[in-house]
Amino acid sequence: MITPHGGTLVNRLVEGDAREALLAKAAGLPKVTLNSREASDLEMIAVGAMSPLEGFMNEADYQGVVDHMHLASGVAWPLPVVLSPKAGENVSAGDEVALVAEDGAVYGTMTVDSVYTPDKKKELEKCYLGDEEHPAWGYLASIGDTYIGGTIQVANLPVYGKHNEYRMTPADTRAAFAEKGWNTIVAFQTRNPIHRAHEYLTKVALEQTDGLLVHPLVGDTKADDIPSDVRMECYKVLLNKYYPLERSMLAVYPQAMRYGGPREAILHALCRQNYGCTHIIIGRDHAGVGSYYGTFDAQQIFDQFAEGEILINTLLFEHAFYCKLTGGMASTKSSPASNEDKIFLSGTKVREMLVNGERPPAEFSRPEVADILISAYAQPAKA
Ligand code: ADX
Repeated sequence: MITPHGGTLVNRLVEGDAREALLAKAAGLPKVTLNSREASDLEMIAVGAMSPLEGFMNEADYQGVVDHMHLASGVAWPLPVVLSPKAGENVSAGDEVALVAEDGAVYGTMTVDSVYTPDKKKELEKCYLGDEEHPAWGYLASIGDTYIGGTIQVANLPVYGKHNEYRMTPADTRAAFAEKGWNTIVAFQTRNPIHRAHEYLTKVALEQTDGLLVHPLVGDTKADDIPSDVRMECYKVLLNKYYPLERSMLAVYPQAMRYGGPREAILHALCRQNYGCTHIIIGRDHAGVGSYYGTFDAQQIFDQFAEGEILINTLLFEHAFYCKLTGGMASTKSSPASNEDKIFLSGTKVREMLVNGERPPAEFSRPEVADILISAYAQPAKA
């Protein structure tokens, strides 16, 4: 089984008597409230999905990550994972605080070793290549001007009303892979319904590996991305009909989307390594938004790391499409198709068709997936 990033699978969950003691102690501590992104980060840290992180980043780790994509320990890490206290929550270095949900439920505690003022503009520019229109700024501007770092102890993970049967920790996925006898496992990160181009990438990857983990991100996404409950319906229908189930698995990835393009591709890869995957698909404009990143920047960034720093392998894909000339799915690497030979629909066009109750061509999207999206768009409250 592939080694977790940094060497050891972190586990910050406290159980049994120690958990009871932690909860009793937390009741008497000053509170820091986590928003939904911070809660999903807490979960990812606690279950080891963000190994080697054992808590929210202190200043030295944060600066190292922003400036050169490495933690203070020298381990590669691409994006900040930070906690910002809310208005009225005053925290000093050395404090022990209770970490609580917006509804007051207690997650656990944090031993604060660092309280610092980030240069958010620098974070935006270095990490996201962004400006104030970038979704990262929407988030950064919405949180406080102070970050606090330190290790966490978690008694309760966030509770969700959905996808619970698809929640697997890295220990769970690793055990499942071992049980299935899979040695090579390819992860497919996605925040969209799986259209034919996505399906093609996963099928090509399956030709080369023992198993596929379809691992959709279900943390916070932009308002105009398709909600995760609609997407999950699409994934289930598609996998049940069009995938070899003995070689495919569906589990959710509880992280918030950062729209960080290249740096987020590294984050997605390292976390999937922690889940036990040996390969990850990186296609065109991975984790991109607008025109902030070059089409293949998220592939090239892996070359900036020394050999051995990132153990998971990338499976890189150029732009995939249905090719009328060759009569099948292809990419610019495998077909001499001209633009007229390619079935290509912009996101805006697809949305327009679905809103009008029209299925996009079967070469673009499986009809079963199109029908789920059409009915979701027909219910404004859900879509
Ligand atoms: S992402 O934010 O998770 O990257 P999306 O769900 O659209 O968005 O993409 C999932 C993966 O499929 C990414 O690796 C992306 O690069 C890749 N991808 C999406 N569409 C295509 C395409 N037409 N050709 C090649 N790769 C693609």
